[in-house]
Amino acid sequence: MKKYNIVIVGGGSTFTPGFLKSFCRMKEEFPINKLVLFDINAERQKTIGEFGKILFEELYPEADFTYTTDIEKTYTESDFVFMQMRVGGYKMRESDEKTPLSMGMIGQETVGAGGMAYGLRSTKEMIKAVYDIRRYAPDAWILNYSNPAAIVAEALRREFPNDKKILNICDQPENVVRSCSRLLSCDYKNLDPVYFGLNHYGWFTHIYDKTNGDDLLSEIKELIKEKGFLPQDAEQRDPSWLDTYGMVQPMMEDFPDYLPNTYNQYYLYPEYKVEHLNPNYTRANEVIDGREKRVFEECKTVIKAGTIKGYVNIHEDAHAEFMIEVAMSIAYNENNRYIVIVENNGAINNLPDDAMVEVAAVLGSNGPRPMRVGNIPLFQKGLLENQLACEKLLIDAYFEESYEKALQAFTLNRLINDAKKARKILDALIEENKGYWPEFKKAE
Ligand code: NAD
Ligand code: G6P
Ligand code: MN
Repeated sequence: MKKYNIVIVGGGSTFTPGFLKSFCRMKEEFPINKLVLFDINAERQKTIGEFGKILFEELYPEADFTYTTDIEKTYTESDFVFMQMRVGGYKMRESDEKTPLSMGMIGQETVGAGGMAYGLRSTKEMIKAVYDIRRYAPDAWILNYSNPAAIVAEALRREFPNDKKILNICDQPENVVRSCSRLLSCDYKNLDPVYFGLNHYGWFTHIYDKTNGDDLLSEIKELIKEKGFLPQDAEQRDPSWLDTYGMVQPMMEDFPDYLPNTYNQYYLYPEYKVEHLNPNYTRANEVIDGREKRVFEECKTVIKAGTIKGYVNIHEDAHAEFMIEVAMSIAYNENNRYIVIVENNGAINNLPDDAMVEVAAVLGSNGPRPMRVGNIPLFQKGLLENQLACEKLLIDAYFEESYEKALQAFTLNRLINDAKKARKILDALIEENKGYWPEFKKAE
């Protein structure tokens, strides 16, 4: 069995320890030769890297584990590059969330003005990183889930139109499917979803039972009405995530045709969400005080003890396992089905060919083969076309360094929706993102 060479970009990510544990647990199914962590923040990565060394020494001594900030060392001979960078860190996430909220608009990691701010930061660094990868590993598969994945996917499509080994992917549709399995008390592997949308803006039209083809969506609807909706791993979730899943119930009452992605809450109930989010303590703070603190403390405890024995409680969520399974489907040409982000080209019949859409696809060593969903209804089509135009204009603004295009993108965004508000928030975010964004020029 071939042993693969793996890179994780954003080695200092809060998700890395869970990933490393999953690689150790899955070593029979997906044996690796070497795993390299790469980060631009050496100090942050060191804590995770030193933890990783101990973990691999004890659980996976046959694999070569290293961490570095050297690009050539990182990418040479790599087969799969998992990308999880957060450009600007949680400090800039706070700005993305709080600045719009202070002006009465949704601020969120991936949607609204905050998502656009993060999108411009990620675009610059992701393009650079893909050039770095291709210099040393022209054939490696790049699995990107750095956010905001929809905007990053559009930027990479434009910069690397012929690169067929970049796959943008998000775990949220899968998380929603797993939540359905909790509700139905069944194995999530038994569920076969049909889905359409843009990343963090989509709907499930069917959730089939794999064994007999029955559509379980109406049963799921009834159960949500009765019991509400919880993440599969609700017991490990922060309160804001429980609120987010909770919003699926009202979304399904108002729009009962399809099961929504949880992120649709921001697009459908922006006023309610603005009223209920705390502008002084947002998700960034919850993560800083929660996941980030916990992960780094756990790594430091292991480093101090010099062993993982007795300290094996590092949280291994579904995320890493899911991403590793995606890599396996490509590596072994398994042709399993995953919901991924692809260039539309007819998958959603009544959206443009050049949209980066999120749909189910068969995934093998030749990449994703998307499954057609046909025409989507006018309501969802209208919402998605608005967001698509917004994201495309934002990426136009990036490449053309055009203030006017950025202003158009911000004005078009459903969570801003007013040209004066758009100019105000854009100007504020330009200040806050100095050095991260392109320097927008105003037309003479
Ligand atoms: P984090 O801040 O803990 O980690 C991100 C790491 O990236 C940091 O160590 C940082 O130094 C590093 N980094 C920043 N710029 C970089 C660059 N140019 N090159 C290499 N490394 C760089 O963040 P996190 O909360 O762990 O999330 C990491 C990323 O993964 C985010 O973009 C997040 O949105 C994304 N994510 C996506 C999904 C999904 O399903 N789409 C799920 C989980 C996380
Ligand atoms: C989900 C989303 C990701 C997001 C992640 C963590 O999995 O699909 O895009 O990055 O949650 O979000 P959090 O708010 O916990 O950092
Ligand atoms: Mn996501």
